[in-house]
Amino acid sequence: MTSELIRLPKYLARSGLASRRAAERLIAEGRVKVNGIPVSEPGIRIDIRRDRVEVDNIPVENTPERKYYLLYKPVGYLSTVRDPFGRPTVMDLLPRNVRKGLFPVGRLDMDTEGLILLTNDGELAFRLTHPRFRVKKTYQVTIKGRPLEEKLLQLQKGIILEEGRTAPAKVKVISAGKKKTVLLITIHEGKKRQVKRMCQAVGHPVISLKRISYAFLNLDGLQPSDYRALTGEEIRRLYALVELKP
Ligand code: URA
Repeated sequence: MTSELIRLPKYLARSGLASRRAAERLIAEGRVKVNGIPVSEPGIRIDIRRDRVEVDNIPVENTPERKYYLLYKPVGYLSTVRDPFGRPTVMDLLPRNVRKGLFPVGRLDMDTEGLILLTNDGELAFRLTHPRFRVKKTYQVTIKGRPLEEKLLQLQKGIILEEGRTAPAKVKVISAGKKKTVLLITIHEGKKRQVKRMCQAVGHPVISLKRISYAFLNLDGLQPSDYRALTGEEIRRLYALVELKP
């Protein structure tokens, strides 16, 4: 029997158990065993055919069926799997048999609506949210007031936030009024509350925010709370986008 060696966090991510970062945490917390022995070294490679991996003493299956869904998240739902305070999460919008093992790719704020992906493919999720792959996200943003040209330029060039300057963004005005303006803003980063903080920084707080596209995916044909499975072609394109081999 030939051996196939892969790093333990990658194995855990591929099994759909956790994102790669979360897998590294599980290892650091001493919750992962290989052949019955606890490991704490994330760099360890395992042979997926021979080695037996357990998390919290429960065997981890090698590559279960991978699942990929696109959801139109409505306002009022958290984009987490579980909420310790019992608030509604995106998982509540999926039937029990669909939601099993899934987790959201990245985050949308509770009061943000729009496109969010859900999968059990930890490796793809890790790459889609990694800054290296610069996956584009477009937001329809309603802001207070009518921004001057120089403010729009500032948004385009980059805004200085606590953690540093934001990368250049694409900004398009859809409609402008005295009270409110609707913009399309495209960014490829995923800093926390990034769009809201960018707009706030130029003096135009966000009234409402909707993610209308993620990479080449959009919300066509979907209403809030609707979801659909990605097609094989869409999955292949996502893999190619983040340089992942199927
Ligand atoms: N930027 C934000 O400010 N909020 C989101 O939910 C997504 C991007």
